[in-house]
Amino acid sequence: MNKVSPWCKYRGDFLWQCLHLLPMEKKPVKFAVVGCGRIGNRHATLIQMDPDCELVALCDIKSEEETGWENSNVPYFNDIKDLLDSGLDFEVVNICTPNGIHAEQALQALEKSKHVVIEKPMGLNKASCERVIFKAFEMSRQVFIVMQNRYSPPSAWLKEMILEERLGRIHTVQINCYWNRGDDYYARSDWKGSKELDGGVLFTQFSHFIDIMYWIFGDITDIKSTFSNFAHAHNTEFEDSGTVTFTFLDGSLGSLIFTTGVWGKNMESSITVTGAKGSIKVGGQYMDKVEYCHVENYEMPELPPTNPPNDYGPYKGSAANHIHVFKNVAEVLRGEKKITTNALEGMKVTEIIERMYQAG
Ligand SMILES: NC(=O)c1ccc[n+]([C@@H]2O[C@H](COP(=O)([O-])OP(=O)(O)OC[C@H]3O[C@@H](n4cnc5c(N)ncnc54)[C@H](O)[C@@H]3O)[C@@H](O)[C@H]2O)c1
Repeated sequence: MNKVSPWCKYRGDFLWQCLHLLPMEKKPVKFAVVGCGRIGNRHATLIQMDPDCELVALCDIKSEEETGWENSNVPYFNDIKDLLDSGLDFEVVNICTPNGIHAEQALQALEKSKHVVIEKPMGLNKASCERVIFKAFEMSRQVFIVMQNRYSPPSAWLKEMILEERLGRIHTVQINCYWNRGDDYYARSDWKGSKELDGGVLFTQFSHFIDIMYWIFGDITDIKSTFSNFAHAHNTEFEDSGTVTFTFLDGSLGSLIFTTGVWGKNMESSITVTGAKGSIKVGGQYMDKVEYCHVENYEMPELPPTNPPNDYGPYKGSAANHIHVFKNVAEVLRGEKKITTNALEGMKVTEIIERMYQAG
């Protein structure tokens, strides 16, 4: 029998460890984007700009000419099934299609062992999100939900303030979402306004803010809702406005008032928190500014600047932070970081919205 001297063994281990300390070349993560509309184009463009990422394929039921990708050299498919059967080498599928088909397409991609990035909302009901989570476990694949407002400095700061219990016992949390979506917004879309594919303004416009609420303050109970359709009764199958009251599981009181019927332009989306040792309001058009901070023994630091909102023609949406989402995918798949918004959180936001609608 060959005997290895302890010194050789030690030297071998040492060299092996040194090899691991050498900087390894990071291979870009390979993406396919499904749905090349407003936000899908943003996904595809940002992925192409990020050295950590590579855009391998695109898919949309519309032609390349209609989506503006006719002069790219990126393989293009009209059916997700053909994309998934193509044999092309990609690890991640980004689902950027209408809300009502997110869960179904995520299941198709997971079934083919792909990781999925799902635009908000994860699905339009809890049951469909559960099926996605079950399939992800079964296939040992990751699910990333796009809730890019979590990267906004005021949101991250507020989360830290609450985690550090700087406000003491929380008394009230009030969320106001006052946005404008005009007739042309619905006229130029073949799915926005539909109950089956859009689901409602709490899903399409305001799920980001319900995510921030859940992320920072947790689950809610005792929900009471009232809805009305003031400005969109002729072009949507759901109400454009509502008031919702609820109680957080720790007993603090919450309310949400929302409308897409604000005249002219977006007015604000804000969260106001009062507690035993202080009060905070994060406001601005899309929860991007700390407007009030009066907290015991605390001086407000200067926060890094917030990204501008996503621009949808005349309409402004939530923070343009998608670049961080794709970075997070690459870091998680390399084992360096945890998922910023995971599938369970995506499901909880959908479930909370579902319960708010059911309470009306
Ligand atoms: N995170 C954010 O801030 C943000 C912002 C805007 C939209 N979104 C979400 O992104 C999704 C898309 O919204 P949008 O504004 O880009 O809509 P959009 O209508 O501009 O784009 C949707 C695209 O999906 C395509 N499509 C429809 N059915 C398809 C199918 N079966 N297979 C492949 N492609 C299909 C359409 O042809 C269209 O090009 C929605 O879920 C929306 O809620 C998220």
